[in-house]
Amino acid sequence: MNFYRCTNCNEISINMFNNNSKMLCCKNEMEELKTNTFLEEIDHHLIQVRKIGNFVTITIGKDEHPMLHVHYISWVILKTDKGIQYKYLNVGDTPIVDFLVGEDEEIINVFAYCTLHLLWSLN
Ligand SMILES: [Fe+2]
Repeated sequence: MNFYRCTNCNEISINMFNNNSKMLCCKNEMEELKTNTFLEEIDHHLIQVRKIGNFVTITIGKDEHPMLHVHYISWVILKTDKGIQYKYLNVGDTPIVDFLVGEDEEIINVFAYCTLHLLWSLN
């Protein structure tokens, strides 16, 4: 699963199957987004996952990530061994999302997109 961003309009696209298709937007090739993982000095991007039975709760930030107009988490993707789910967040929301999964469903990764610091992942 690869992520791409248009440097003109900031549109994000996901290439689900890692084929080598060129991702185009605004008549230009989109740039691939590299995922950042947790850095202690930027602890508001720490992805915390709690799974109890069928319920998965994901919190972004050791202290909750800012959710201001100029800087917020706009979406979170949960990738499991069964597929992906995503949730949108808006300015003013709490950076916490809930997902419903099968009890035997294994969490593979979590991605969170910060409008200022771009793409973060659990691993
Ligand atoms: Fe951020």
